[in-house]
Amino acid sequence: MEIITIYVLVYAYIQKKDIRLKMFKSGMPVKGKNFIDRTEHLKKFNIYLQNHQHIMIKAPRRYGKTSLVVQLFELNDYKKIYVDIKRATSLKQLASQIIDEVYAIAGFSGIIQKASKSITTLFKQLRASVSLNIDTIELTLEKLELNTKNEIEEMEYFLYSLDLVEKIAQEKDINIKFAMDEFQDILNIASSSILDKVRSVMQDHQNVTYIFLGSIETIMNKIFSSKSSPFFHFTRVIDLGGFDVDELLIYTKKFFDKQDIVYDDSLTKVLHYLEGHPYYSVKTLQIIHYGSLETANKLITTKECIEALTTALYETKPYLEEIIEKVKVKKHHHIVLWSLANEKKVENLDSPTLYKTYSSLQDMGYIKKQQRGEYIITDIFLKIMLQQNNDISFTIDNKIIFKDLVLKGKK
Ligand SMILES: Nc1ncnc2c1ncn2[C@@H]1O[C@H](COP(=O)(O)OP(=O)(O)OP(=O)(O)O)[C@@H](O)[C@H]1O
Ligand SMILES: [Mg+2]
Repeated sequence: MEIITIYVLVYAYIQKKDIRLKMFKSGMPVKGKNFIDRTEHLKKFNIYLQNHQHIMIKAPRRYGKTSLVVQLFELNDYKKIYVDIKRATSLKQLASQIIDEVYAIAGFSGIIQKASKSITTLFKQLRASVSLNIDTIELTLEKLELNTKNEIEEMEYFLYSLDLVEKIAQEKDINIKFAMDEFQDILNIASSSILDKVRSVMQDHQNVTYIFLGSIETIMNKIFSSKSSPFFHFTRVIDLGGFDVDELLIYTKKFFDKQDIVYDDSLTKVLHYLEGHPYYSVKTLQIIHYGSLETANKLITTKECIEALTTALYETKPYLEEIIEKVKVKKHHHIVLWSLANEKKVENLDSPTLYKTYSSLQDMGYIKKQQRGEYIITDIFLKIMLQQNNDISFTIDNKIIFKDLVLKGKK
């Protein structure tokens, strides 16, 4: 009898712990138990990485690119480097970060900071603690010294950092998985000639597998899929769509079932309405869940779903308004985007101008061309915002119209 009681208690504890870990989380890349869906992607990417196949993953903003790579790294014991090029202020800084990370893989932390103090001391420390070729160490110190004195071209320094990753991987007889997030932003810190140079260095690398991530599809296509680009055929290109809504639903229902939260059909409909957009889906679910915890209401119906959607939209409003401001300063962009959201024909605009505007909106990452040549807005909340009759519905009335969302009736 006692054994059974203990068993029940332990089981209950595990269940509870499991639930606690599996909360919906938004606002930062997720991993571990918070990571949802993407089963097929994880399987496929792992096969690529294990076979040293370079990959490029493109998807609009907040589709979960970073989370996917973080989770890939979490689940596998790879030697890895991750850099976010959007955050790099210059090529030099990026190169230093790469050098720092690869020396950490070799077993030596903080090389850049130590180099700024004394190269001689650093040399002694490296000799004593790192099993690398003396030539490799000496060359690194030479480059670091030149960099400190500002006597090295930043391009040379950057290309050196890439070669160093290969060199150290070779010496250690390992394969390093090297993720470059928001890769298209490299064109913001260097001229376009960098692509040729980087490719010619990377193509000789046998011990590094590159993962390029990017959110501006047209630029990523230009870099990786255009025949004239140096990166053409260098990677497997993967277009990361939204969540598989059915998989997300299975996860969500299991999650709520475990907590004895009951839901009607609205939950399914809302998740379909959000088109599998990872961030907005997770955010809405999180709000529903928190609402249920706060009010001890264990029933999710149309009311809870609409309230959660509304809150999620409000919380995203500053981000969406920023996008709309950016769009408004460019000629015709706003009306074209608005017409797309409202399925209206754009009036008084000739075809070449319309086409140019579509291209530009694509370059900004806000719309995407579908197979049949139609354009869609990649951000479902942006679309909803553009569908409101006027700004008042958003601010004063507090009544947002969710066009195309039918929660009652149809089952
Ligand atoms: N697989 C996932 N499981 C659970 N939540 C996810 C997943 N992917 C994305 N999300 C949700 O979406 C948010 C954005 O994810 P992430 O930062 O990985 O996207 P991103 O495509 O790298 O975005 P950005 O373009 O802003 O860099 C996360 O904070 C999380 O709430
Ligand atoms: Mg990201």
